[in-house]
Amino acid sequence: MHVYIDQIGSHVAEEITVKGWLHNRRSSGKIHFLILRDGTGFVQAVMSKAAVGEEMFKAADHLSQETSLIVTGTARADARAPGGYELDVKTVEVVGESHDYPITPKEHGVDYLLDRRHLWIRSERQQAILRIRHEIINAIRDFFNDRGFILADTPIFTPAACEGTTTLFPAQYFEDQTAYLTQSGQLYNEANAMALGRVYCFGPTFRAEKSKTRRHLTEFWMVEPEMAYAHLDDVMDLAEALIVSVVQRVLDRRRRELAAVERDVSKLEAVQPPFPRITYDEAIAILREQGQTIEWGGDFGGPDETLLSARYDRPVMVHRYPAAVKAFYMKPDPERPEVALGVDVLAPEGYGEIVGGGERLADLALLLQRIKDHNLPQEAFEWYLDLRRYGSVPHGGFGMGVERVVAWICGLEHVRETIPYPRMLYRLYP
Ligand code: 4AD
Ligand code: MG
Repeated sequence: MHVYIDQIGSHVAEEITVKGWLHNRRSSGKIHFLILRDGTGFVQAVMSKAAVGEEMFKAADHLSQETSLIVTGTARADARAPGGYELDVKTVEVVGESHDYPITPKEHGVDYLLDRRHLWIRSERQQAILRIRHEIINAIRDFFNDRGFILADTPIFTPAACEGTTTLFPAQYFEDQTAYLTQSGQLYNEANAMALGRVYCFGPTFRAEKSKTRRHLTEFWMVEPEMAYAHLDDVMDLAEALIVSVVQRVLDRRRRELAAVERDVSKLEAVQPPFPRITYDEAIAILREQGQTIEWGGDFGGPDETLLSARYDRPVMVHRYPAAVKAFYMKPDPERPEVALGVDVLAPEGYGEIVGGGERLADLALLLQRIKDHNLPQEAFEWYLDLRRYGSVPHGGFGMGVERVVAWICGLEHVRETIPYPRMLYRLYP
């Protein structure tokens, strides 16, 4: 019977078949130790000459890394084995050979590995990261679905910018039009929220950012909830609840993978509500205390975010940024119009901004003014202005980038390992 490696525990003492690939082989004169992987886990298959006979034993002499194999044998519990079980081999069938596999257990440079990303993802560590990514995405969907949010998809081809005109990717749209790959589904999300109340979109987003940092991709996945009749505090409460729930879900279900990436889970266990909430002004004062020379009015750089977040053992929420550095759609604070009712959530351990959002500008006249101030083409936003013409209400939401969350939860150096095929300034292959 075909059994997936992570299910072997329910088949002890039975004869089972594993279909997978050879991860590694060690051999002595009388025994081959074959480490098999099948995508669900790894198991050691013990092949003794006595059990399989001279001929089959000899055939296994040359089996090399990543050969695909179908192995039949008896499952046995073994406390010393990595997964807790081993397989005593009866037969081995080679499905596809693999010669000179380019990624060996020795150290390779990261560019070498990224050029072979389609193979690199077979490694134990990369598989663990991608499984955690899967868990995070499902945890996000469950969080919103369980609370009655409606998934409403937003377009990828868009006629105008959402997050600033400098990071747009143009695409030729038939003969005479230019479309842009979406930077965020937010504007359409706002329309959807006016129809459905509480919504979210979850898809790929694009930024032509020429940043070569460990936090930037040109294509990344973002989940964006949007709520009608909501204010900044509601947005912060929602972001906090989402992050707590996602971290807890990974702790509950992906211990094995967290161990494979050598994550210090005590750091994740500390991620409990309430998260500290500080204003931009307070953040500036903290940075100055730490010796940074920083002017009121600018956005924070990566090093500023790292310094700020280092003070806390859980994510910190920074709200009320200077309106001038934030997007056109943000609502100015009625008490103090030079700041916007926006919030960034900074992850601990130097992972920087994982969430950005806030309350939206619901007033028609003010929004028109902001569109002019930002030199945006009003015609392209007429539909968006309609939301303020026909029953405008206070509303807000945020965007959370999946790759930054995966990098933080897994404790990775760089977001390039958080997605199967990263897209970056100098990387479009494979
Ligand atoms: O702060 P951002 O630009 O916010 C928006 O796009 C809003 N329209 C979202 C909303 O309110 N609906 O991006 C949101 C998040 C960031 O906090 C970060 O996690 C991620 O998206 N992000 C990136 N992730 C990887 N690479 C990049 N180049 C990213 N740019 C933003
Ligand atoms: Mg942001």
